Amino acid sequence: MDIVLSGIRPTGRLHLGNYFGALRNFVRMQHDAKCYFFIADYHSLTTHNDPEHLHENVKTVLAEYLAAGIDPQVATIYIQSDVPQVTELSLLLSMHAYVGELERTASFKDKIRKNPSNVNAGLLCYPVLMAADILLHRATHVPVGKDQEQHLELTRVFARRFNNMYGVEYFPESQPYNFGAELVKIPGLDGSGKMGKSENNGIFLADPDNVIRKKVMKAVTDSGPTEPNSPVSEGVANIFTIMEAVSDPSTITYFKEQYAACTIRYGDLKKQLAEDIIRTVAPIRERIEAIRNDDAYLHRVVCEGAEKARESAAATVSDVRNIMGIRPF
Ligand code: TYM
Repeated sequence: MDIVLSGIRPTGRLHLGNYFGALRNFVRMQHDAKCYFFIADYHSLTTHNDPEHLHENVKTVLAEYLAAGIDPQVATIYIQSDVPQVTELSLLLSMHAYVGELERTASFKDKIRKNPSNVNAGLLCYPVLMAADILLHRATHVPVGKDQEQHLELTRVFARRFNNMYGVEYFPESQPYNFGAELVKIPGLDGSGKMGKSENNGIFLADPDNVIRKKVMKAVTDSGPTEPNSPVSEGVANIFTIMEAVSDPSTITYFKEQYAACTIRYGDLKKQLAEDIIRTVAPIRERIEAIRNDDAYLHRVVCEGAEKARESAAATVSDVRNIMGIRPF
């Protein structure tokens, strides 16, 4: 049976990128595979140091997971720091992770460029901890967005290296996964880059309808096509990319034809996009607050999830210790 695992850092409210890159996959896959979905609170410490915020964000992400349809009766939902075995596996894997390959990771280079005064060891070892998350349950499929591809590649390098070094077939080669399709990168509405929590260019699952409409109407476009089949600017291409995720194929075809014929009205395109986003987000948003305020339920979910996750994690760490020669007398 497939083993599916994925995680999200609790650094703010979840946006459409998190939803289409990861969360929607979790929800679709939970009935067909053994699924582990966790909140990567250790990972968020590499850039986050406000304890109150962190705790509140963990609660919010948990509520958003549940509101999006992850069923704790079916899947294992847990908080990374509730499963201490991950830190041991991370330490053990770090013995075979080379500093050079960690320094070359795009996410590390990006973080140190943006924040040169905080180049901490946790940032450097981020991909090792992520590999530990995945290999802790020997996951075969990892639903993520395109931005995580390189981390998955490194996870496979670490798994392969471990297997070769110790002459075992222990860790699987975990594959990034998007339900029946290529990995996605949901762009922001500001005409460049990907949608992100800190880029101020996102639409959040918790956004009210009027906020969604306002954000979409402000999305960057251009002055319009001037001749048939003019090249599409980045801002307009981004709008079509988001449409691919939320709109009917016939809607997309309609606006693409309008674009090609130079008759497109960006106001209509944006109105349509906003309504299609609302259709996706509204049912989730309506559940978030009620779930977030139910402390007893959230407590029960994370306690039960942690217990199940620790069971699987303990078995893996015990095997790995044994393979590496750390054995009881
Ligand atoms: P994070 O918290 O940045 O993002 C969570 C998930 O959302 C996806 N995502 C996107 N997908 C498409 N378009 C976007 N604009 C977009 N923005 C975010 C991410 O690809 C991710 O799947 N390192 C991970 C968290 C993590 C993890 C793991 C994931 C820690 N351990 C083990 C999988 C397995 C991260 O920072 O995701």
